[in-house]
Amino acid sequence: MRISWTKPDFGEDEKKAAIEVVNTGWVTQGKVTKRFEEGIEEYTSAKDVTVVNNGTAALITAMLAHGIGKGDEVIVPSLTFIASINSIISIGATPVLIDSDPKIWNTTPDLAREKITPKTKAIMPVDVGGMPIDIEGFEKLAKEEGVVLIEDAAAAPGGEYKGKKMGGFDHTSTFSFHIAKSLQTIEGGCVLTNSDEIGEKCKSIRNHGMSAPYSAKINLHYDYVNYGLNFRITDIQSAIGLVQLSKVDKQVEHRNKLVRMYKEGLDGEFEFQTVPDYVTKHPYLFFGIMADADKRDSLAKCLVNNGADIRVCWLPAHLQAYHKSLFKGLFLSGAEEVGNRSIELPLGGCTEEEVNDVVKLIKGWVKNQ
Ligand SMILES: Cc1ncc(COP(=O)(O)O)c(C=O)c1O
Repeated sequence: MRISWTKPDFGEDEKKAAIEVVNTGWVTQGKVTKRFEEGIEEYTSAKDVTVVNNGTAALITAMLAHGIGKGDEVIVPSLTFIASINSIISIGATPVLIDSDPKIWNTTPDLAREKITPKTKAIMPVDVGGMPIDIEGFEKLAKEEGVVLIEDAAAAPGGEYKGKKMGGFDHTSTFSFHIAKSLQTIEGGCVLTNSDEIGEKCKSIRNHGMSAPYSAKINLHYDYVNYGLNFRITDIQSAIGLVQLSKVDKQVEHRNKLVRMYKEGLDGEFEFQTVPDYVTKHPYLFFGIMADADKRDSLAKCLVNNGADIRVCWLPAHLQAYHKSLFKGLFLSGAEEVGNRSIELPLGGCTEEEVNDVVKLIKGWVKNQ
């Protein structure tokens, strides 16, 4: 038996769309990417979307567009994929790590408030596993404190907060379209904003800060008006993204069905991430169970040895080999509890049969304890 943690959800339509782009002779970022951006705007109701080549680039683009840089502090949870932290370091700003609530795995406005200083320029909460953060709470905090709110919603495409699609709120958010996500372009991501000014800056930053799309007919030379880098995506990936966009709701429904099966199958044996009422749709990039800390590794090994691929999301950033010297002496009990106890089970692209097999494996392990 071999059950992948996640699989690409690509069918004939994605293949056809990619080949059609190749046949046009224009494969780099162009008209198809523009259509993909408009499609995401319509789906999320965000005013402006800038598609880039991955979710990390989306975070960097969003921060640069908001004028964040050297000397600025950005508040971010330690319990996140390392890209949230590394993107802040990459622009010369200082990540200020905060704890997370071990029940919901997300950080909270109260935990962020404690770390605000005169140097705080932005708060970057993260939707862990795609689960929406307390958006109203964070928007209120950011407004009161006069700081920028950038939501790392990398895993959240297809999720909903109080019935509204993720990405369509007043603050800036970012998505990732990496192959594990509910909307996949192999690698890819985007910045979503309700500000025309930020949107325009993002489009310039992803292209080395160029003022406008280059056209030899109009411009005799390239004009660079912002600092930027090459964060462009290809039209081949955007064509795949357009097909995926039409399937994202179905993909999220399927993930929710598998999660219900896991929860029913493992009821009473483990704790799960608590889903607050304001989360009206959890897109489930991943689904995790909380084992006892001293038994977690034994269960993880049992699953892997029996062919079920798992992940641990995540060892908090302040404990990572490279990062621990940057955050010496930091103890964050909530982040560390999740990091020590959780196991993320196979989900994306899995069949119901595969989920039943994983449940059986886990129950067998429980019996032997
Ligand atoms: C919370 C979070 N932020 C950022 C990223 C970075 O996205 P990408 O891998 O597309 O660069 C990820 C990717 O999984 C993520 O989970």
